[in-house]
Amino acid sequence: MKVFITREIPEIAIKLLHKNKFSIVIHKGERKISRTELIKNVRDADGVISLLSDNFDESVISEMKKCKVIANYAVGFNNINLKYAREKGIVVTNTPDVLTDATADLAIALALSCARRIFEGDKIIRNNKFIGWSPKLLLGFEMRGKIFGIIGSGRIGTATAIRAHAFGTKIIYFSNSINLELQNKTAAKKVSLNYLLKNSDFISIHLPLTEKTYHLLDKSKLMLLKKTSILINTARGEIIDEKALIEKFKKKEIFAAGLDVYENEPEVNNELLKLKNVVLLPHIGSASVEARNKMAVLSAKNIINVLKGKMPITQVN
Ligand code: GLV
Ligand code: GLV
Repeated sequence: MKVFITREIPEIAIKLLHKNKFSIVIHKGERKISRTELIKNVRDADGVISLLSDNFDESVISEMKKCKVIANYAVGFNNINLKYAREKGIVVTNTPDVLTDATADLAIALALSCARRIFEGDKIIRNNKFIGWSPKLLLGFEMRGKIFGIIGSGRIGTATAIRAHAFGTKIIYFSNSINLELQNKTAAKKVSLNYLLKNSDFISIHLPLTEKTYHLLDKSKLMLLKKTSILINTARGEIIDEKALIEKFKKKEIFAAGLDVYENEPEVNNELLKLKNVVLLPHIGSASVEARNKMAVLSAKNIINVLKGKMPITQVN
């Protein structure tokens, strides 16, 4: 049976698949696979390991003549038409849990980078502009005593809240359901989205992208933010109306933002590049050696299980 992998992932996945006697085809190199190459390669594949940047819409899925499983190498799966895959009898899986710590670490790294203006400071040094210690240079904010608002209290939101709580922040969260673990570990309070936006010093987004969360933070919601607030997004770019966010910076109605994701990845709005105290990262939330290895193993195991007629571990459709 053929397993197609749309990009090189940690070797441990390849070893596992080899051990199970699958033939493996990998799209090699650092370039994203084109739609034409994708269609050509998935046509006769029994299983596919895909990236979040590969678009498995109806027209791609309909070309998959033998496929039983798409194992997305990501926790998010908005790049795959789940319903259509299901209709075609294709199991879709993701990689939850294993990247929770990595992503929560990054959310906190961004929060601190924004609060303490790390990248502005770095720039001063690199541009040879450091003329000595100064009482007013790059004043930021401490975390202790601040309100840390978590939007979406799933695994990553909870892990981020626990970290933020350890820094002395008060946690509030917006979610469809009560999260007792979060409340027990951090004394977090569940609040409305408007309350969270109006009152938080830090706001960190941890929701999947769906029709309901697209532009959840639109212009009218962003209006509610405090002028001193710090907005962190390690989820999906489309959840924030990026243009409206840029306007807020231009009007100095927000203190900082830490973005790991963008509305039109990999393109980044040119206006964002010009803004001070906006930290811009290239979608690296899960980019730890530990997480990526575990994601590779989980993806491979999902493929193996389905192709051997067993239950997938982390099915999403
Ligand atoms: C990363 O964004 C993921 O969904 O795993
Ligand atoms: C700062 O470097 C201090 O010593 O207070």
